[in-house]
Amino acid sequence: MDSKSGFAGTVAAFVPVLLVGIGLWAYFGSGVRWKIPDRSVHEASLRSLSVPAGDIGRANGLAGARDNASSGAPAVRKPSIEGAPPSNDMPWEDPRAPVSPPSRGALREAVERGGKLYASACAWCHGMDGRGEGPWASRSATSVRDLTIPEKFVARSSVQGTVPFEADIYRTLRRGLPGTAMPSYRNLSSDDLWALVAFIKTLSSDYDDPVKAPKEAYVPAGAPEERDMQLLLANGRALYLELDCARCHGEDGAGDAAAGLADSRGKPFATADFVSGGGRFLCGMSPRDVARTILIGMPGTPMEPYVENLYGVGGDPRGMPAESRAAGDRKVLALVAYTLKLVEEAKRR
Ligand code: HEC
Ligand code: HEC
Repeated sequence: MDSKSGFAGTVAAFVPVLLVGIGLWAYFGSGVRWKIPDRSVHEASLRSLSVPAGDIGRANGLAGARDNASSGAPAVRKPSIEGAPPSNDMPWEDPRAPVSPPSRGALREAVERGGKLYASACAWCHGMDGRGEGPWASRSATSVRDLTIPEKFVARSSVQGTVPFEADIYRTLRRGLPGTAMPSYRNLSSDDLWALVAFIKTLSSDYDDPVKAPKEAYVPAGAPEERDMQLLLANGRALYLELDCARCHGEDGAGDAAAGLADSRGKPFATADFVSGGGRFLCGMSPRDVARTILIGMPGTPMEPYVENLYGVGGDPRGMPAESRAAGDRKVLALVAYTLKLVEEAKRR
């Protein structure tokens, strides 16, 4: 072998190594970018925000926002994107909400844009790190939600112990949480709302945990029928007393019995009194919304899921014989009808 062919041989031997290298880079290098949550994107978008670098750096990259009186400007500025008052009339399960998130290819841009929107609209209350300790949080009557614990979001169609669906968060952003400081962002485009959802998902790794993957709760189809109303209301009242809803909500729904209830931050709950103000339900006031709330409960609050009491099974009513499931459905509708009647009656007083 002369030196020339020796060189060619070395190059030829190197080609497969090079190809494998390119393959590995293409697979891992680009694959990571499509995953959500993507912390590197999240941190990059935080760094690009209009927050003094020191404030982010000080508490290890993702500090909670604070009123930073000593160093002059506050760490998080007042919102430049204002929400609207939360809408009491809009059902939470808003059929107008498009339920398809952005395409996977667009996800990276969505997270970046969502991060900027978050800083201009949400961080004031929720804090830059999402822990619910923004500069304004102490002024909120109820605790500002910790967005790093999605298991405790209350407006959801997934069962407790799982994270909410993306569409659940979307609906809440669009409608707001009536009776609390959480505004409605229905003035934002659906692209912007999905960008916010994509960003919120970077605040917790729970969205990646297969054990916590959202599992759809069972909710009976159909609303209480007008012609059955007298019977439904009578049954509903009996159930309301039997299940001891009055223990917290009072016999008339005014919640006096629950006056002392407080959350882990010592703040009251918005709707233990669910009749004042004509009813402002966090999770919606349509019969289907109320049925969902009663069956799923509200994580992080004393409002428990009532699926076992109403269907007699701990698991999923979908697995029950049709007849016993229908009996449970009737109980749910009765309880819903009675609950909504308490609100109606209070409005007339
Ligand atoms: C003025 C303060 C304020 C602003 C601004 C605000 N929020 Fe909230 N948010 C709250 C409060 C308070 C709650 C909890 C209400 C309660 O349950 O009492 C909340 C709850 C939430 C929840 C939890 C919903 C659930 O089902 O539990 C999400 C998600 C959320 N906010 C996202 C956002 C996003 C995204 C923005 C910006 C686009 C935003 N918030 C702006 C105060 C605010
Ligand atoms: C141990 C106390 C407790 C019991 C018992 C209880 N609830 Fe609740 N419930 C609460 C609290 C606290 C809230 C408010 C949570 C919040 O605002 O974050 C609530 C909220 C609600 C809401 C308003 C939901 C919303 O979207 O804002 C409805 C409706 C409701 N409960 C119905 C019932 C019914 C029906 C029963 C009986 C089957 C019942 N509750 C039993 C504590 C209780």
